Amino acid sequence: MNHTNNKQKIGLFGFGVVGESLHHVITNSRAANAEVVKVCIRDPHKKRSLPAEMFCTEKNEIIDNPEINLVVELIDDAGKALEIVKDAMQAGKSVVSGNKKMLATHMEELLELQEQSGSALLYDASACGSIPVIRNLEEYYDNDLLLSITGILNGSSNYILSRMFNEEVDFAQALDRAREMGFAEADPSLDIEGHDALYKIIILAMHGFGSRVSKDEIFFSGISHIGPADIRFARERGYRIKLVAQAQKVHHNKLALFVMPKLVTRAEYIYNVEDEYNGVVIEGEFYEKQFMFGKGAGGFPTGSSVLSDITARTHNYRYEYKKRKYFSPPSPTNDVLLEVYYRYRFTEDLLLLDFEEITEHHSTRDYFYVIGHIRLGALLQVRDKLNNMKVFLAFTRIMQA
Ligand code: HSE
Repeated sequence: MNHTNNKQKIGLFGFGVVGESLHHVITNSRAANAEVVKVCIRDPHKKRSLPAEMFCTEKNEIIDNPEINLVVELIDDAGKALEIVKDAMQAGKSVVSGNKKMLATHMEELLELQEQSGSALLYDASACGSIPVIRNLEEYYDNDLLLSITGILNGSSNYILSRMFNEEVDFAQALDRAREMGFAEADPSLDIEGHDALYKIIILAMHGFGSRVSKDEIFFSGISHIGPADIRFARERGYRIKLVAQAQKVHHNKLALFVMPKLVTRAEYIYNVEDEYNGVVIEGEFYEKQFMFGKGAGGFPTGSSVLSDITARTHNYRYEYKKRKYFSPPSPTNDVLLEVYYRYRFTEDLLLLDFEEITEHHSTRDYFYVIGHIRLGALLQVRDKLNNMKVFLAFTRIMQA
């Protein structure tokens, strides 16, 4: 196909791990009909791998440049990213973004902006790095058979858990390594406390089900308080611990969303997803389960995903948000019963959680743990308090929806 006339002349925001890798990927992709024209950076004094004239520090040098038809936004700051995206789209430029927080938080506004401006906004790199999950949910799963999306969506926490399980490296060392390898966010609490996976499942819920769910309505917890006792428990019972995000259709047309560590059995597809890899299990009526696997973090895998959005623009591709347009999207619910493992230090820590039933209770000199049944709604009510306590919660399964 000759798409010479649709060359993507790129204004790039951000030249961190992903931005620099994207430049490398574009330069090494012979068929990519794309060229980085200008790069806007925050710090002009930092040593860079490209000639100085490629860089600028003023947003409008890109927004007002008529030669640039595509803005690629790869910065950390969600507030500044939103400004860039809005200005670019209002100036008639399409945008490729990787900013999960911005997308998950401002989805409605961004949907409207796409309609009003006619500009496209693509963001496959925002969820699961190199795995083409968003475009698949849009295009292949463009019907209403989808029942659930479950997965390991955060590469850094998976990397940390793999190191702790397989090499007995401690949490702090594993996190340092994830930062050195360029997997972690600039603020790594976003990775280990579950925020990053939460943003990603909110985005996937929009493309998989058409549902708009806000962070306030969702329970999430992370791995920052995992300890040797939890790893020992998992090992003894044949589990691995993974940070899992799940969007599950329940009660006919409702959607339950949550992010929580999971005690994963050997029989589950995600059991063998290790290191910075991500794995997404798609479940639907009539086809049961499908599994997508690939690198979820790191400069080159994420840069490749951004390149795919850039080349999609040479064909004028845009998201249609088909589930919203053609179906009645399921509305959010937290009326779901989970089986959980809860390890805590003080007897009063147990009182925080409104268990419907406790099936096992163990005490040692240093800590306690219980296994019991609790509603997602009950967890959501104490979410922020729980996330500030030195306790560890993991689920094994959805008992009843
Ligand atoms: N910090 C993210 C992760 C990067 O570890 O998955 C990719 O979104």
